[in-house]
Amino acid sequence: MSTDAIVLLKQDHKDVREQFRAFRKPDQTPVQKQKIVDTILELLTVHTYIENEVMYPRVRSLLPDLEDDVLESYEEHHVADVLCMELAAMDATDERFDAKTTVLIENVEHHMAEEEQDWFPKVREGLGRKQLQELGEELLAARKRAPRRPEQPSAMKKAIDAVVS
Ligand SMILES: [Fe+2]
Ligand SMILES: [Fe+2]
Repeated sequence: MSTDAIVLLKQDHKDVREQFRAFRKPDQTPVQKQKIVDTILELLTVHTYIENEVMYPRVRSLLPDLEDDVLESYEEHHVADVLCMELAAMDATDERFDAKTTVLIENVEHHMAEEEQDWFPKVREGLGRKQLQELGEELLAARKRAPRRPEQPSAMKKAIDAVVS
């Protein structure tokens, strides 16, 4: 199996898009939708983690010209993280569940397209084959320690706990 970093990340994107397509199928029960959204949240949590922990910091230091692309991507991850956290705390019968999932999907589709079309090609151009293989191995190692569910930041968790108790 290839450990080329960009090949690995694009494979993740493919898996995510497959779940997005599954969500869009008409006439599904809340139970079916909940299952798909749970899978989406897990895929995105792991993928965002390995990009945040490995891909983005490495690209930022190895290819300083891509700094703006990396910073914009961190912000897009942040928006997706907030939506994922809110969805994780929501039930599929909630009237806002479908709308929030749709907004998440639109955001992530835009973000993945930007990565694939705008700056991953520049990363491939800027880094050698060997560097991309090493980066891929680091991504695989990070995947093993990645969280599987959106984590609530402690400040938000405290606020929610205060409301609940
Ligand atoms: Fe990303
Ligand atoms: Fe990505």
